[in-house]
Amino acid sequence: MTDKAKPNPTSRGRVTVVGSLNMDLVARAPRLPLPGETLAGHAFAQVPGGKGGNQAVAAARLGAQVAMIGCVGNDTNGATLKSSLEAEGIDCTALATSEHAPTGVALIIVDDASQNAIVIVAGSNAEVTPERIGAQEDMLAQADVIVCQLETPAETVRAALAAGRRLGRTTILNPAPAASALPADWFPLVDYLIPNELEAGTLTGAPISTPDDARRAAHALKAKGARNVIVTLGGQGVYALLHGDDDGRHLPSPKVEAVDTTAAGDTFIGGFAAELARGSAVADAIAFGQRAAALAVTREGAQPSIPHRNEVSK
Ligand code: RIB
Repeated sequence: MTDKAKPNPTSRGRVTVVGSLNMDLVARAPRLPLPGETLAGHAFAQVPGGKGGNQAVAAARLGAQVAMIGCVGNDTNGATLKSSLEAEGIDCTALATSEHAPTGVALIIVDDASQNAIVIVAGSNAEVTPERIGAQEDMLAQADVIVCQLETPAETVRAALAAGRRLGRTTILNPAPAASALPADWFPLVDYLIPNELEAGTLTGAPISTPDDARRAAHALKAKGARNVIVTLGGQGVYALLHGDDDGRHLPSPKVEAVDTTAAGDTFIGGFAAELARGSAVADAIAFGQRAAALAVTREGAQPSIPHRNEVSK
């Protein structure tokens, strides 16, 4: 990991997540629908989600002290999301409530092959503004690791990464969802850039399906200034190109029977961040995140699928 790691792998490190909170409306269907098609599903559930919330819950269940900077609406979904974070022991003092926008939602379809398709409606997540980041400088300063995604406004993500860099904290950016290339001035602010294969393809302009494709993408993204790049490849594992390495490594994942891949990437990132914050070596943090994510895909839902630290094998 970066030289900022604390050399104490037994203490709980601090992770602050800047990100989204969504109520996930999840339908299970035999397959993903075609454009214009109506499909009969066979199950429905409403569960807490959002990439930010999922990563916060993952980091908390997997061993970190976690604080969340985000925004929910003044509605039932918002109250449910906030209380579910509090039930995980997550510090919600920097969780705002919008008086104008409803809580974010995600419409998720999971097919019988365990793949998903997701549409998000940002709602109150759009009100996680740079000003809210500026007001939480103390919380950011206390974090060992700061984690961001792209379900909050771009200027907010940049402000959080810049604060992390200025304060000497370790920064993680999960560029999800990725709609286009990242601004060039973000890369030097990022210690760990962690896209999945689709996102890495969007960021580099070249589709990715194999570890070799991921290797090329990781080199391209590191050349832009990210200190470390980890491309997640679902069941194929991850490709990690770390600071000081001339070439990276493909690290396969544990083999499991997947039932729902929703929040697998979030679990990897939360587990990785928690382990880094405890002062573990980067390679150990990656392997820990992979084992946690492998467990998550054997269970349904976003936050309900995320394992606790004592379930993840050593
Ligand atoms: O990464 C999974 C998450 O993406 C879901 O929980 C959904 O809310 C969307 O943000």
